[in-house]
Formats: sequence, structure tokens, C-alpha cells
Amino acid sequence: MLSNQPKQVSSTAFREPTIEDGPSIYDLVNRSKPLDVNSRYLYLLQCSHFANTCAVAESDGSVQAFISAYVRPDQPDTLFIWQVAVDASLRGQGIAGRLLGHLLDRQHLAGIRFVEATVNPSNNASQNLFASLARKSACEMTESMLFEAHLLSDGTDEGAHEADILLRVGPIKS
Ligand SMILES: CC(C)(COP(=O)(O)OP(=O)(O)OC[C@H]1O[C@@H](n2cnc3c(N)ncnc32)[C@H](O)[C@@H]1OP(=O)(O)O)[C@@H](O)C(=O)NCCC(=O)NCCS
Repeated sequence: MLSNQPKQVSSTAFREPTIEDGPSIYDLVNRSKPLDVNSRYLYLLQCSHFANTCAVAESDGSVQAFISAYVRPDQPDTLFIWQVAVDASLRGQGIAGRLLGHLLDRQHLAGIRFVEATVNPSNNASQNLFASLARKSACEMTESMLFEAHLLSDGTDEGAHEADILLRVGPIKS
């Protein structure tokens, strides 16, 4: 089979990450443009201190998708989705949507009414992931500016960065 052909997922398990997943998550995010890859240390913290608001999809014994999130300290009913990455060979098969659903189904997140995420204006897949959540949850999705491009760019062509637009989906019924 050619390597750029879509892979079929036989069985995918959704679960909390463990620290052993840290290196695989770093590699997955690193190859998932346009995401900015963070330090290895950050992913280890997410796999430990923030594991109960993060999730991985594991297939054939390896991490194929990752979602990181946290409950906003200033808004306990709001889950902020930090990064979502699905291996390129598995995109378009509903993995990200199912991973997000898995996270929202966790008992300790039963009080979550709003899901927020930032997206780059040119990232249609990312926007559609949250639009799909809004549609399935029969609620609204609003948009506002969170971080303008100049705050995320270093002034060079190589360091140029799109603005981060805040999407807010809700209120989600329990
Ligand atoms: C964004 C990303 C996580 C989506 O993962 P995925 O598993 O392919 O998404 P899903 O198959 O669950 O699809 C979710 C929705 O987005 C739509 N979608 C998926 N890929 C799309 C694409 N390339 N263009 C437009 N819409 C797309 C799907 O149709 C679905 O909407 P629907 O329920 O209305 O049909 C994946 O493309 C990725 O890892 N991209 C690189 C990293 C990134 O941009 N992360 C997002 C930052 S928040």
C-alpha cells in the first residue's frame, strides 16, 4: 500500500495519556502543521498533571491522535481545547470528533457547558471540527479575536503567524 493512502482504523482505543506517551505525542504534534510544537517537558506535564483533561487515540499499539485541554481557571464551566492532532494518514475519518466526544463524556467534566478553542482563519479542518460539535450539540458557535497576529509573530517572514480566533461552543446540555 502506498504510504500516502488513507489507513483504515481497525480498532481505536480512546484513553487518558500516560507519561510514556509523551515522546509519541511530541512527535505527532511536531509533524502536524500548522500546530506549534511545545517543549517535550510541556507534553509530559499534560500527560501527568493534566491527564484527566487530555486524551489519546491508540491504534495498533501506537498513539495516532492527541487532544489537550484544561478547565479554564476563571470559568469552571468552560473547557479550553489547547491542541488537537490526528496522524495525517487517519484524518477525515472522524477520529478528532470522537476524541473530543470521549473527553466531554468524562464524569468529572459533566459540568462543562462551553468548549473553547483557537483556530487559525485558514484552518478549515479545525474550524469544521468545532462547527460539527456545535451542530451535534444543537448550540451556537461564536467567534472573537483572542490573539492578533503581531503578538504571535517575531517580525520575520519565517516567524509569521496567523491570528488566533477564539471559537466558543455552547451552552452544551449535560
Ligand atoms: C484538524 C484535525 C485535528 C481534524 O482531525 P480529523 O480526525 O480529520 O477530523 P474529523 O474527521 O473528526 O472531522 C471533523 C469535522 O471536520 C471536517 N473536516 C475534516 N477534515 C477536513 C478538511 N481537511 N477540510 C475541511 N473539513 C474537514 C469533517 O468533515 C468533520 O465535519 P462534519 O462532522 O461536519 O463532517 C486534523 O486535520 C489535524 O490533525 N490537522 C493538523 C493539526 C491541526 O490543524 N490541529 C487543529 C488545531 S485546533
